[in-house]
Amino acid sequence: MAVKILMVCLGNICRSPLAEGILAAKLPENNFSVDSAGTGSWHIGSSPDKRSIATAKAHHLDISKQKGRQFNKTDFDVFDYIYVMDKSNYDNVIALANNTEQKQKVQIILNELFPGENVDVPDPYYGLENGFENVYSMLDEACSIIADKLISKHT
Ligand code: 4NP
Repeated sequence: MAVKILMVCLGNICRSPLAEGILAAKLPENNFSVDSAGTGSWHIGSSPDKRSIATAKAHHLDISKQKGRQFNKTDFDVFDYIYVMDKSNYDNVIALANNTEQKQKVQIILNELFPGENVDVPDPYYGLENGFENVYSMLDEACSIIADKLISKHT
């Protein structure tokens, strides 16, 4: 059975679609599957933000086929690892958990780079264009660490 990883942000159109594409490209497809979701419901069924699609494309990743969906409680049963982009995502996801085992699946993604510091991936939605490149580079670093750990643990 493939190990399942979920990336979560607020809208599921800017940060988590990039995180999904970046991590999926670093993992062997037959052992792992990566998905993303938002805690909010505004963008259910939407494609990623065109700035996220363009940033991914500049790094040879195609995230254009992804469709937005909302995080829900059954994701705790389906996924082995849940990475959230910021503290408010963390609080929103944890509020839906039923038990400690489910809570332990949830990690703030930049704690991979800065352990215990709870640093946010800044939401680039209302920001400047280079916000997306900044998000890409943070996520690329964090996902390299995550991929190394997952590959050594699960393959
Ligand atoms: P994301 O960014 O959480 O990185 O996808 C956002 C996109 C849209 C909204 C909020 C955050 N929104 O409020 O529509």
